[in-house]
Amino acid sequence: MEIKGSVAVITGGGNGIGEAVAKYFAQNGAKVVIVDMAQKNIDRVVKDIQGMGGEVIGVQANVTSEADTAKFIKAAIEAFGQINIAVSCAGIIRDGTMLSLDKETGKVNRKMGLDKWQPVIDTNLTGTFLTVRDAAEAMVNGGWPGLLVTISSVNKVGQVGQLNYSSAKVADALLPKIVVGEFLMRGIRNVRCVGIAPGYTATPMLTGMNQEALKAILADVHLGRLVDPNEIARLIGHCVENEAINATTLEITGGLCYPGGIAK
Ligand SMILES: NC(=O)c1ccc[n+]([C@@H]2O[C@H](COP(=O)([O-])OP(=O)(O)OC[C@H]3O[C@@H](n4cnc5c(N)ncnc54)[C@H](O)[C@@H]3O)[C@@H](O)[C@H]2O)c1
Repeated sequence: MEIKGSVAVITGGGNGIGEAVAKYFAQNGAKVVIVDMAQKNIDRVVKDIQGMGGEVIGVQANVTSEADTAKFIKAAIEAFGQINIAVSCAGIIRDGTMLSLDKETGKVNRKMGLDKWQPVIDTNLTGTFLTVRDAAEAMVNGGWPGLLVTISSVNKVGQVGQLNYSSAKVADALLPKIVVGEFLMRGIRNVRCVGIAPGYTATPMLTGMNQEALKAILADVHLGRLVDPNEIARLIGHCVENEAINATTLEITGGLCYPGGIAK
């Protein structure tokens, strides 16, 4: 597969890692579909890509909705005739511990509610499932060469304070192995699937955080800085062009090493 001439659908393409991936593909000659919930993010990225001379459309959609997923898949095919690459970057966090205790009594005074659990599972896992499922359906029915990309996280190994997010991200990491196994079982040869597991990445969420907390995070990173979203975009671009990469999840962390195992 080549990036040039491919059609790439990027959910969460309106910001952060998804934006970098969309721009990288556009710079390298792909036609790009920006899918995001936030219209103003879509407008900004579409304008930037048009300014670079790229071919792009934006579709406002919520990746947790089956109807919205069908809508952006249809829009991509109507605009550009096919889909070759689908990158599921839409993601959210709602951090907190499962239980909190009252300092005086030592009894539980708060539990993680479904208000924090469900949106994280819906967006990061169900959203990825729907994007991967419907993009794969289009690629199989169209007979187009395809690559499906899930975005996991190094938190797939478990991060305290992120039971919801880590639960979704471990599933996102496993998905490529299962899906490609099923493709093999069903005789589907034209579509691959890979996962990318980024470490701490320089998106607004992290660059804007308390600088002392950021320094503590970076103490565990061999590279000594945050991963640049463009470095993730280049890895995904390499996955497009190297068909031996399949049914696996690749970490890109700058050498994140937790000496004690699970992150605290
Ligand atoms: N930033 C990091 O350090 C980091 C590390 C590992 C993994 N990740 C993962 O990478 C992906 C992108 O992260 P980011 O930091 O670029 O996030 P971001 O917040 O900068 O961008 C996410 C985009 O997704 C959109 N979005 C959120 N929910 C949506 C929904 N239901 N439907 C459609 N669009 C929706 C948002 O509007 C936003 O534009 C996420 O899956 C995240 O979990 C990020």
